[in-house]
Amino acid sequence: MRCRICNHIMIGEERPERCPNCGAPPSAFEPAPRELLLAAEAQPAALSRRKFFATWGWWGFCMSAAMTAIGSVRYFFPNVLYEPPAKYKVGFPNDFPIGEHVFIPAARAYVIHVSGGFKAITAICTHLGCTVKWTPDVQEFHCPCHGSMYRADGTRFAGPAPRNLIWLAVSLAPDGQVVIDTKPPRLVEPTEVFKG
Ligand code: FES
Repeated sequence: MRCRICNHIMIGEERPERCPNCGAPPSAFEPAPRELLLAAEAQPAALSRRKFFATWGWWGFCMSAAMTAIGSVRYFFPNVLYEPPAKYKVGFPNDFPIGEHVFIPAARAYVIHVSGGFKAITAICTHLGCTVKWTPDVQEFHCPCHGSMYRADGTRFAGPAPRNLIWLAVSLAPDGQVVIDTKPPRLVEPTEVFKG
């Protein structure tokens, strides 16, 4: 039916008591043209489809916002600590010939077996972090990157490096292996010798 007053279309053949749109009496109704009836019938489906997409759109938005928030929080609590270990077991005392500088690649450090015990010094240049090389002929550490040079006791004497090389703490593990600590909790003096 169609209301002649406001053109409101209603599905069905029966005249309602009043037009739900404008309140017109039953006499204002007439049979609606077929194409208008079909359009009116299609409308609820279109509305529900719109509602469906709107609902799922909101769900998607809320889910992605929640995932982003969870990801941001997880960022502050990583499962894995990517820092390299500070302590390295480097071998048994007899593996180190007396008087030699033995390079330990994993720790980027030299272990030196002196007559009274063991010493260890970092091989990380204090300029930009290249690995310094022990040069036995002149008893110095040389950096291949920008030419910094250090004496045998780690004192910088040439090149752009701003500081001396750092001495590392040495200890003995329960299994008898020499351990070097690349992040010693205290400053190790160049003269300090670990009597293992
Ligand atoms: S990194 Fe060693 S001198 Fe630059």
